[in-house]
Amino acid sequence: MFELVKSPLASEKHVAVECIDVWREFQDGPRVIKVLQGTNLKVDRGEFVAVVGASGSGKTTLLNLIGGLDQPTSGTILVDGLDITDLDDEKMSEVRRHKIGVLFQDQHLLPIFTALENVEVPMLLDDIPEKDRRDRAIKLLEMVSVDHRSQHMPHELSGGMRSRVALARALANDPAILLCDEPTGDLDHKTGGEVIQLMRDLAKKKNLAVLAATHDPETARMADKILLLRDGVLVDELIGDFFKHSKVDVTTRKHNQGTGDRAST
Ligand SMILES: Nc1ncnc2c1ncn2[C@@H]1O[C@H](COP(=O)(O)OP(=O)(O)OP(=O)(O)O)[C@@H](O)[C@H]1O
Ligand SMILES: [Mg+2]
Repeated sequence: MFELVKSPLASEKHVAVECIDVWREFQDGPRVIKVLQGTNLKVDRGEFVAVVGASGSGKTTLLNLIGGLDQPTSGTILVDGLDITDLDDEKMSEVRRHKIGVLFQDQHLLPIFTALENVEVPMLLDDIPEKDRRDRAIKLLEMVSVDHRSQHMPHELSGGMRSRVALARALANDPAILLCDEPTGDLDHKTGGEVIQLMRDLAKKKNLAVLAATHDPETARMADKILLLRDGVLVDELIGDFFKHSKVDVTTRKHNQGTGDRAST
């Protein structure tokens, strides 16, 4: 494994993700689609951040870039202090394995493995002895309160439990960052809220930066910080607490009802 050397650009050691003037353009025939147009952001370890914005505003594109699944047209992305912008595939997959956990809505558990085995999967590539791997997977399932179902197959679990197992799996290699794309999209309101609360608690407990792209105002309300993507740029950083009692739909920043809220100005 190559050494995960920190970049000299790393400004502060508690910054988990930093995007500096990140552009991402896609070629669509003769047309250039400019999705991200100079995005700058910083997310600290321990922070739970919601990324909001209209459909097509670039939320998934941004998460894919931070997760190393795509490369920016220009700009710099630092993950836990390491510049990932020009890493080759081999190095990038090392970074993904050790620094980044992902929890995407369509990322299903492997159906032929138990809950426990699913959590063990990311550890298989590392040289972890079987017993340690199993003990660690059990601890992770305890952390997400699904240890009593460790021997069950995914289809024997509820949607909420499957999300929790996927969360445990995403944290298997103790990442610095957890990237979530519509993490509660398939869940009912109450179960989704519980999963978000759990992610929020884990962010604090494990000193993890969580970035969650969402259309759900309730998820955004629970975040420490809300990043709003509009016309290719992050136009605002809004503190979650500010919205706790607000009538503003934070995913569009339009009032549902009422007046006089600072967020609409
Ligand atoms: N590989 C690609 N090639 C061409 N265009 C792309 C590609 N990936 C994304 N886009 C375009 O980039 C824009 C942003 O897409 P993205 O999926 O990031 O939006 P989003 O904010 O996640 O939307 P949603 O809320 O619907 O998930 C869209 O116009 C999309 O069509
Ligand atoms: Mg998306």
